Amino acid sequence: MRDQITRRTALKLMGAVAGSVVLGGLTTLSGCKPNSLQDVSTNNTPNEENKSDDASAGQNKVKRLVFYFTGTGNCLYIAKQLSDHTISIPQAMKKGEFVYEAEEIGIVYPIYGHMPPNMVRAFLQKAQLKCNYLFAILTYGNRKCSAAEICDQIGKDSGRPFDYIATLLMVDNWLPNFDMNEQMQIDKKIPENLARIQADLNVQKKAIEPVTEEERQQHAEFLSRASAIFTAEGIHAKAENWFTVTDKCITCGICVKVCPKANYSMDVERAVPKGECELCFACVHNCPHKAIILTNGEKNPNARYRNPNVKISDIQKANNQKG
Ligand SMILES: Cc1cc2nc3c(=O)[nH]c(=O)nc-3n(C[C@H](O)[C@H](O)[C@H](O)COP(=O)(O)O)c2cc1C
Ligand code: SF4
Ligand code: SF4
Repeated sequence: MRDQITRRTALKLMGAVAGSVVLGGLTTLSGCKPNSLQDVSTNNTPNEENKSDDASAGQNKVKRLVFYFTGTGNCLYIAKQLSDHTISIPQAMKKGEFVYEAEEIGIVYPIYGHMPPNMVRAFLQKAQLKCNYLFAILTYGNRKCSAAEICDQIGKDSGRPFDYIATLLMVDNWLPNFDMNEQMQIDKKIPENLARIQADLNVQKKAIEPVTEEERQQHAEFLSRASAIFTAEGIHAKAENWFTVTDKCITCGICVKVCPKANYSMDVERAVPKGECELCFACVHNCPHKAIILTNGEKNPNARYRNPNVKISDIQKANNQKG
């Protein structure tokens, strides 16, 4: 027993170190630098994450403000490639700040069953996004179906239609069907596709990515097959049903900080998931000890993913609801 406690304490210390490991800085693609600052000022500059060119809050003019939601860093990475002014949607929701103004406003989110995460949908319904140009970039890993059209409809229903919507293929972090080690080997042409999107945005191109009738049908079939989890209104999942925390847990608390729904608490022995879940998989992928597994099975429980340009601390900063 004493040995076990000693080992647990040692592992805890290792976990603390692992949690603070810097895996590499965010890089900016050449040709993809954000536009220079000009135009309308934001109402919510204190909420912004990147202050490099935002020294006197409230006075500066923001050209492009980009909101994002992320579980494993793809959308965070893309948001930061598009602008120096980014805001995490979980943090905006936590603060209850919904009025923003800039020349251009963008949203970057991962598609879940071809739809936005519940929190993104709620944000779009509540937010007043005052801008001359509103765009959305939807990241996905395998099959986008009618994702652009669904996003377009949500924009119209919220009273501020999008001017531009594009999808962007990246690593698929959906663990039930995909082995992350295999996913990371696939060249998804991200720099090329991102450069194309950036060029469109730089001329404020007005274009909603087209959806075929076949893709519409595929989405309808998907909804009829997966209706226990995915409905047209959003995702229905409970963290306690989806995730099992194994005895690999060293109670480091990282899952608590990366969850945008504050679904984790700490027991003496291990972390405990409970609550309405976004299914973002931030907890599973970011656990440094792979101690969280999918209760109903997954392709490879030993393979986990975080965008290589994103640090675990960035995900914590984006999603943490506690403290
Ligand atoms: C719950 C869930 C559902 C997903 N549904 C789809 C999907 O329908 N089609 C698809 O191509 N990718 C799907 N994905 C993959 C993600 O959209 C993709 O990996 C995204 O880039 C992750 O972004 P993030 O790293 O910012 O969290 C899904 C992922 C999750 C967790
Ligand atoms: S389950 Fe949570 S507390 Fe336990 S090791 Fe993983 S991240 Fe840390
Ligand atoms: S419990 Fe996990 S999957 Fe669910 S919202 Fe929290 S981090 Fe995301």
